[in-house]
Amino acid sequence: MKYKVPVIPGDGIGPEIIAEGEKVLEAAAEKHGFGIEWTEYLLGAEHYLKTGELVSEETLKELSAYQAIYLGAIGDPRVKPGILEKGVLLAMRFYFDQYINLRPVKLLEGVWTPLKDKGPAEIDFVVVRENTEDLYMGLGGRASSGHSRKEFEVVRALYKVKFGLDVDSDSDEIGYQLGMVSREGTERVIKYAFDLAMARDKHLSSVDKANVLSDIYGFWREIFEEVSSNYPQVKTDFNFVDAITMWFVKNPEWFDVVVAPNMFGDIITDLGAMIQGGLGLAPGANLNPQGTSMFEPIHGSAPKYKGMNKINPIATIWSGALLLEHLGQRDAARDVVLAIEQNLREGKVRTYDLGGSSTTSEVGDDIARLVRSL
Ligand code: IPM
Ligand code: MN
Repeated sequence: MKYKVPVIPGDGIGPEIIAEGEKVLEAAAEKHGFGIEWTEYLLGAEHYLKTGELVSEETLKELSAYQAIYLGAIGDPRVKPGILEKGVLLAMRFYFDQYINLRPVKLLEGVWTPLKDKGPAEIDFVVVRENTEDLYMGLGGRASSGHSRKEFEVVRALYKVKFGLDVDSDSDEIGYQLGMVSREGTERVIKYAFDLAMARDKHLSSVDKANVLSDIYGFWREIFEEVSSNYPQVKTDFNFVDAITMWFVKNPEWFDVVVAPNMFGDIITDLGAMIQGGLGLAPGANLNPQGTSMFEPIHGSAPKYKGMNKINPIATIWSGALLLEHLGQRDAARDVVLAIEQNLREGKVRTYDLGGSSTTSEVGDDIARLVRSL
């Protein structure tokens, strides 16, 4: 059995961390009697600066033949902020309709957390971030004083929506961004979160800001309540996004599964990453259970560390474990996580962010060795 997996190393430290992820996943594959054939796609800053192209329709079509993509990081200081992030990363999340962004927040043994008196027993939950809608849809613009009109079109597998916006303004200039959530898009991610809660501790927390942004997040809350009626065994609660950042710090043990609209999910998962020991340890999965999913660390491309063999590869390796699980290779996935845990518990081979002085590739070697020896 051989899986074909497209890999997008991307920008900055992307290629370095992806190399370690491939190394560890290959060790797990070999041990469990299957193979992985990587196909590299060189998307990102270099490709963009050379050709002016972000990602072509042809490449997207080609990638959509696969179940899982392995991604390093996208973003480069030579390109204006947002161009690559929106044009490559978000373009793929939307194109493949990866409506679930799964971000485990789990403190592993041997890892320091900035939260006093909290340990692995207290910090173990999963954030399910909606990944295709909300303020991320790119519906926005700028308008100078006077009259202007702008048309927006959202074409998705799930629906098509057109907005026409007439602006009459005497402000010198305004900037605006429309957020949108759909019933279909909200229902499916909330259902996924309930199913996940059923498989865990049967507690689901919803995040919104229904007290102020009621048209969008009041709608989200209404749909949450509707879906909730099908899951009487799951205990639920509502959290305003500002408040949940406080509870993540004060009482992380309250949480089991947390479901959030796109932007709030983005914000709270950086906080989640920090309480689990830092961005170097936080994995993520962009999932479309019926289509092409994509596995990436939640951190960015850290351009200032590019080529230094310094950055922690664990978030990427752990994301690789999520990829193996997604392919149905649960034992191999489990071994990768166990090896990460063992590496952290031993505490001998670790990168600078965890107080060590080992290199990116030394950590990858160590985890690959542990996979083989488990
Ligand atoms: C993330 C990142 C991205 C996001 C950026 C790079 C577009 O912050 O994956 O959390 O906002 O989703
Ligand atoms: Mn983010």
